[in-house]
Amino acid sequence: MKLLNTFIIAFSAVSLIACEDSKFDGLPPRLDEVQPEQPVRPGEEATSRDEQYRPQIHYTPARNWINDPNGMVYADGVYHLYYQYNPQGHGWGNMSWGHAVSSDLIHWDEKDVAMVRNEWVDIFSGSAIVDKGNVAGFGNNAILAFYTASGEHQQQCLAYSTDGGMTFTQYDGNPVITNSELADFRDPKVFWHEESQKWIMALALGWSHRIEFWGSENLKSWRRLSSFASTSDRSNIGQWECPDLVKLPYKDGEKWVLIVSNNPGGPVGGSGTEYFVGDFDGETFTAMDLDYPLWLDYGADNYAGVTWSNMPDGRVVMIGWMNNWNYAEMVPASPWCSAMTLPRMLTLKEFNGQPVLATEVVREIDGIAGEWKVSSDGQINVDDAYEAKFTVSLKESSSFKLSNSAGEYLEVSVNAGARKIIAKRTSATGEATFHDKFSIPSVSAPFNCDGDEMELHVFVDRSSVEIFNSDGTMALTNIVFPKEPYNIISGVGDVSYRELKSIW
Ligand code: FRU
Repeated sequence: MKLLNTFIIAFSAVSLIACEDSKFDGLPPRLDEVQPEQPVRPGEEATSRDEQYRPQIHYTPARNWINDPNGMVYADGVYHLYYQYNPQGHGWGNMSWGHAVSSDLIHWDEKDVAMVRNEWVDIFSGSAIVDKGNVAGFGNNAILAFYTASGEHQQQCLAYSTDGGMTFTQYDGNPVITNSELADFRDPKVFWHEESQKWIMALALGWSHRIEFWGSENLKSWRRLSSFASTSDRSNIGQWECPDLVKLPYKDGEKWVLIVSNNPGGPVGGSGTEYFVGDFDGETFTAMDLDYPLWLDYGADNYAGVTWSNMPDGRVVMIGWMNNWNYAEMVPASPWCSAMTLPRMLTLKEFNGQPVLATEVVREIDGIAGEWKVSSDGQINVDDAYEAKFTVSLKESSSFKLSNSAGEYLEVSVNAGARKIIAKRTSATGEATFHDKFSIPSVSAPFNCDGDEMELHVFVDRSSVEIFNSDGTMALTNIVFPKEPYNIISGVGDVSYRELKSIW
């Protein structure tokens, strides 16, 4: 009885803390009994993955809620994608690390849940690395996962896997970074910093609008190095989450890009991912003086993205959560809830003498693509998903539509004067009544290119439209819920398209 009481008290404390954060309010009840570290097998209850709205070229779990991608790492020929997962339900709660693996970043095989929350803490977001030198002592090439244990406080913990990322054992010296003061202190992203020969961990401080950098030689003891804050008030509207710091070639040298998810300070309210470009000397990140905030994606639905560790070919590849905390739980999808974006390669391009973070869908998408075809009447003859390519004039304003035979459409206008493209994600797109923040009349992105015309690449799935310009300096990701996929593109003349075959 004493034990039960202790548990109830501790459990209520955990629940209370989780609910302090408004975005986690009003969610379904959490586990009402202790969940031991037992395997959870989503495969046993697998679905056809062919339900209405079910993405055909984006990762979704068979069932239940997902949010942030976590612990992405390439190890031994396998791309791992872990993610915030509720093994028990359709809404946020019981946060654990779900798991899927891939050999090409496009087809995903859902595995058992890799880390299940226990009675004291949720397993919040984090990252993973391959310990090639056995620095931490858990074995050569052990996969080390760093995550935030979110209970009474948010503390950073380490778990390791010696079976190729399938199961994890908790390090008995946890937490590796203790915290009893900060309300928000989470989402560790760990990477090797060659120049200063140490491991760096980036951590987000939520409503304090700061990213802290910590350093370590042995991956177990960490020391605080520095703290980054933005000078832009606009960047400080929401809470800062899920940081990443990546080095990218730029002009004749290189620059460091600090990626910060911001909620609800996103470009159209709710969730968004911004970035800062600058230098990192192994201790401190110093941002260039640019016109912040800069958004990695100007759409409503690309959040919490971070990059893969240990990529085999040096590419910097990110995947994001294709949803928005403003309405995430209410989206009309079941028995799963939420998808990931397509994986995207990050590069720095120059526009107007300044660096712009470009995102392009990874080339592995070719593996599910059919032949390019040309449609002169706008009809796209495919089963479900496809990529379309067409050119829009930037000399005068115009608009085009993606629509279906049910009369639902996403209208996109090209504003030549403002040099912006604007997606009208309104109730015309399909089901939109599930939340009053879902309908957004103007989701706009700067062209980020010169010239009189712009080629657009549009990836259409059953419940999303991802729009890019040809060099990736403009990205606009929005989810939509049409009764049937949009298979008509009107208002742009000839359209090239290729079918993208279902990954399921
Ligand atoms: C971002 C986030 C993270 C946290 C996780 C909890 O969406 O709030 O900061 O670790 O979700 O599920």
